[in-house]
Amino acid sequence: MSGNGKQADIAVTGLAVMGANLALNMAEKGATVAIHNRSPERIDALMDAAGPLAERFIPCRTVPELMAALTPPRPVMMMVAAGAVDAAAEGLAAGMSPGDILIDGGNANFHDTRRRVEAYTARGLQYLGVGVSGGEEGARHGPSIMIGGDAEVFRRVEPIFMSIAARYDGEPCAARLGPDGAGHFVKTIHNGIEYADMQMIAEVYGVMRDGFAMTSEEMAAVFGKWNEGRLKSYLIEITADVLAAKDPETGRPMADIIEDTAGQKGTGRWSAIEAQTLGVPATVIEAAVAARGLSARRSERLAGAALFGEPDRTLDDELGSRDAAVELLGEALLAGKIAAYAQGFAVMGQASDDYGWNLPFATIAKIWRAGCIIRSVFLDDIAQAYGAAGEARNLMTVEPFAGTLQRTEASLRRLVSVAAANGIAVPALASALAYFDLSRTTLTTANLIQGQRDYFGAHGFRRTDRDGSDFHGPWAMGLSG
Ligand code: 6PG
Repeated sequence: MSGNGKQADIAVTGLAVMGANLALNMAEKGATVAIHNRSPERIDALMDAAGPLAERFIPCRTVPELMAALTPPRPVMMMVAAGAVDAAAEGLAAGMSPGDILIDGGNANFHDTRRRVEAYTARGLQYLGVGVSGGEEGARHGPSIMIGGDAEVFRRVEPIFMSIAARYDGEPCAARLGPDGAGHFVKTIHNGIEYADMQMIAEVYGVMRDGFAMTSEEMAAVFGKWNEGRLKSYLIEITADVLAAKDPETGRPMADIIEDTAGQKGTGRWSAIEAQTLGVPATVIEAAVAARGLSARRSERLAGAALFGEPDRTLDDELGSRDAAVELLGEALLAGKIAAYAQGFAVMGQASDDYGWNLPFATIAKIWRAGCIIRSVFLDDIAQAYGAAGEARNLMTVEPFAGTLQRTEASLRRLVSVAAANGIAVPALASALAYFDLSRTTLTTANLIQGQRDYFGAHGFRRTDRDGSDFHGPWAMGLSG
């Protein structure tokens, strides 16, 4: 028992931005929270910053203190970087008793989570892998929470997660999505979609900036207007804010001062890797990850510009009047978004089958409607589409998305072709268009690929005119004879 006799409902260890804010959120919702950090300064800093909420904290400097502050089965939420989870979990497990619950609330790779679930349950402990989205603000006032793990174990901590989650129409944006790594997998795909959304927004920004020489104020106004319509979303809203902001030191638009090299902690990349591993095309997400990578190779880009020169990206009336062009960009963005989300949900569909998770797609869309980074009105449509279409796998083919794609496809096509003709790179939007086109092609060019594979490797092919799967072309005889 802790010094003052209080017992905690849950513990949070790892008090950097996300951990500290989640602990404050829990305390605000009435939980008593044992707080712990490897270096004690962060514990003191949180106690100081907590104001009246400090009363609901039990500061613990050591793992034994932390364990003493909790009543079995003790739930301890780790809010540490992905690379530090094994060490943190081991440190805690050493002081835990059978039935105690390790909770990883960071952005873990779901393969690691599956491994940890197996290892710790074999030792009699419980393990939940929990994806938390919404950044600092979300952690403090309501994140979207994607939980993976045993249903019984989840029930023990469910009231706390439900109380701290964001709300959409009064419903908490938190759910158990499946066993073991399901929560962290869904969070990874959330981040892949986040990358795709951000990249496509950046691409239309590029068309406005480089094609039309629009000022940051003008572009902020466009995004602000889009945020009142079908594109309404957190990412469009913050784009307007970022573009409207001025650098306090120079007075220049902040966006013009920021170097054009994108960082990435790795979750978008994991998303693309898992899509590839599962054999599901997620080309928009892949393009977004690659574009960040290319942006970061700044010296190579500068050398390329010196060698090849840069195209004059200025657009005249290729996309119509300025107003018409802006309208077209918004439609293209919507079409691209549909393709990206269709891909993300298709990846989750395949993972659900392969890992036997039985992921609840309507619930995933619902808990993404508020709190998380990709929150938007669009997700309400997805929730409804899944509610109505049940197992529907490709969102592009489900209403209202099918109809919206039919209406917006021409804008995406025009934008991608004009951008290509003028040297404006729009890799994610172009991938979305190619995905759409390939997804409705009755005769692809893969017959030639199959011929080539058979030619050099005798891999066999199916014929269009008869049953069977192991036919060979006349070249095979030539090679062997
Ligand atoms: C979220 C975010 C978050 C992400 C960071 C940075 O859902 O709250 O996706 O989890 O890790 O925003 O991500 P990158 O460094 O990969 O851009």
